[in-house]
Amino acid sequence: MPERLSGKRVVVFGAGSVGPGWGNGKAAAVVFAREGAKVVAVDVNEAAAKETVDIIVGEGGEAVAVAADVRREEDVARVVDLAETRFGGLDVVHYNVGVSRPGGVEETSLDDWSAVFAINVDAALLAARAALPAMRRAGGGAFVFISSVAAVASGGYAYVSYEASKAALNRLSQTIAVAHAAEGIRSNVIMPGLIDTPHVAAMIAGRATAAQDLAARRAAAPPMKRQGSAFDVAHAAAFLASDAARYITGVALPVDGGLTLTVPAA
Ligand SMILES: NC(=O)c1ccc[n+]([C@@H]2O[C@H](COP(=O)([O-])OP(=O)(O)OC[C@H]3O[C@@H](n4cnc5c(N)ncnc54)[C@H](O)[C@@H]3O)[C@@H](O)[C@H]2O)c1
Repeated sequence: MPERLSGKRVVVFGAGSVGPGWGNGKAAAVVFAREGAKVVAVDVNEAAAKETVDIIVGEGGEAVAVAADVRREEDVARVVDLAETRFGGLDVVHYNVGVSRPGGVEETSLDDWSAVFAINVDAALLAARAALPAMRRAGGGAFVFISSVAAVASGGYAYVSYEASKAALNRLSQTIAVAHAAEGIRSNVIMPGLIDTPHVAAMIAGRATAAQDLAARRAAAPPMKRQGSAFDVAHAAAFLASDAARYITGVALPVDGGLTLTVPAA
């Protein structure tokens, strides 16, 4: 199969993983490189970004690691500058960073709410604002934002700030899609369902419910009867980032094994 991202210059925000194994951002960065892209791997944790870059370089790909905090406008601007100076331009932004804090409406402090929105929404705006002029200079571009099925459905946990912020991210992407379509700039979101990542494994391990039990329930929930892998999300992202998706913009694509099509049994 020909490489779908040959010649593309891609920035992945949140390209590391919080633990051993494959997070969504790490898998996306590696898949983009396997598809021929040059990757700027950005993470607040420099060692995590370097680990991803080492994998890419070890496979014969091209990538550079950058330590940056997506909440800081100057960091995000530095990342875009680096894509242009190092790789000659910027074609794709993959925004993977996302956080959650538990709590329903009455338990969520304004501090928790703001901390979640600062990363899931505000920083996504910063990334888009910094990248748009560079994409224009490149003659077009594509954004892929990692949202969640939590943007459109409840999963039985109280996560009001997460759900509201991911819904806002979906709409931010659609707004970008409409506003910049005529410039050849596309914007899409992926809504992962229940994905087996190191972040989730750590969350499960920290719960009172037996970890095995919760993992088994997550696997049983979607019609496909398994949790997704970070590579399921990454392959969808590579398609949306590629020119094969050139007439697709403003979509929110569930990558969830059919989870959002089901309702709980009565
Ligand atoms: N795993 C799931 O079941 C699931 C489901 C739906 C959506 N998602 C979404 O997937 C994305 C996360 O996937 P992941 O497994 O790669 O997550 P992750 O938690 O492993 O985070 C990826 C990287 O982001 C980095 N990061 C955190 N804060 C940052 C900051 N301020 N600036 C720069 N980098 C920062 C972390 O250091 C980490 O290396 C999130 O947007 C999440 O909401 C996950």
